[in-house]
Amino acid sequence: MTQPSHNPFVFGEIIDDAGFVDRTEELRTLVRDLADGQKVFLLSPRRFGKSSLVSMALLKLRKRHIRTVSLTVSSYSSYTQFLEKFAEKVLRAAGPWSRVKDWVTKFGRQVKPELNYNLATGEVSVSLGRGSGYDPTPIAPDIFALPGELTKNGGFRMAICLDEFQQINEFNGGSVENVLRNQVQEQREVGYVFAGSQPALMEEMLSSKRPFHKAGPRMFLDKIPADDWRDFIVGQFRKRGRILEHSALEALLKAADLIPYDVQRIAHELWDYAELRDGRRLDTSDVQAVIASLIAGQSTYYELLWEQLSARQRAALQAIAYRGAAAIYSENVREEFRLGPASTVQRALASLDSRDVIDRYKGQFFFLDPLFPQWIRAKGA
Ligand SMILES: Nc1ncnc2c1ncn2[C@@H]1O[C@H](COP(=O)(O)OP(=O)(O)OP(=O)(O)O)[C@@H](O)[C@H]1O
Ligand SMILES: [Mg+2]
Repeated sequence: MTQPSHNPFVFGEIIDDAGFVDRTEELRTLVRDLADGQKVFLLSPRRFGKSSLVSMALLKLRKRHIRTVSLTVSSYSSYTQFLEKFAEKVLRAAGPWSRVKDWVTKFGRQVKPELNYNLATGEVSVSLGRGSGYDPTPIAPDIFALPGELTKNGGFRMAICLDEFQQINEFNGGSVENVLRNQVQEQREVGYVFAGSQPALMEEMLSSKRPFHKAGPRMFLDKIPADDWRDFIVGQFRKRGRILEHSALEALLKAADLIPYDVQRIAHELWDYAELRDGRRLDTSDVQAVIASLIAGQSTYYELLWEQLSARQRAALQAIAYRGAAAIYSENVREEFRLGPASTVQRALASLDSRDVIDRYKGQFFFLDPLFPQWIRAKGA
């Protein structure tokens, strides 16, 4: 037996430099736009790699002495808490303390008594009003103006990521969009990337009657091409003295539907599987075994999800799982799966989309979890 080895396939975490596959073009564009102070909208379905791409871009920007800030909108339970963290992170990034001190003091006086900070330690901690009745709306413009004020006074540039941006509407109805848009468009020295996981919601936010319409370039993140995955995956196994047969690799990529998260997840399991058996050569049956065990591990969850769906939704999912998304509206398929009229199918698909079971990619519906259709087929067999 060889010594256990570090598993090079990572999923569910933000990918760092070493394991980052492809995206050279996207990375270059994003870095350039953020350095230029653009407001970029990064869209893709879940788990395509937005957060990883942004984190790489911010890393590169820091090397160019651009101050960076990253916030995940969905992490905060209220508008107040989001504004507090926004202010804190921006102030921290603008440090060192000695440089921003005077300015922060001035800002603190303006918005008093709602802003507190610890001058002694230099640790910034912002605390706005307390209590569930506190309304931060009046102070929001001042908070969102911070990056602009600090960069102007401090002579540096800044890049800010607001991840899971579609969630911003959970705060304070729609008014936050307006305030944020008005503030960021004044900030020439500050690049923003607004990353969002539900393309439909994001598109709506960018539509003509909404504040962010035409606020900046849109970037739609594609899947990572199969060729880039092939090199990466085969290379990792080869370094470990294992051969992954071509057909096995193709089976892996197909099962994962080229969704970055799932490619990594299956490859990760395959790695562990090979380590356990010290398999020198991995073929399709090994990949199938790994996928079967992943599906088995998820079956309780799938079962629960299935129970919660309506008959119409189940039928629509079966139709996609068996016949593919392109055929879903065809008369044959609607008859075969008893889907009813096209308008009913449309409603079922829309509700499955908003439940994050399916999403759209290049105009076509697909399963966000590519193993779920396999489970559906196995169940119906
Ligand atoms: N460039 C990449 N190279 C290698 N793996 C990647 C890359 N991008 C994404 N992945 C894989 O996909 C997973 C999900 O990536 P990430 O969290 O960045 O996606 P996301 O679009 O932000 O997802 P979510 O919408 O759920 O927030 C990562 O943990 C990793 O396994
Ligand atoms: Mg993310």
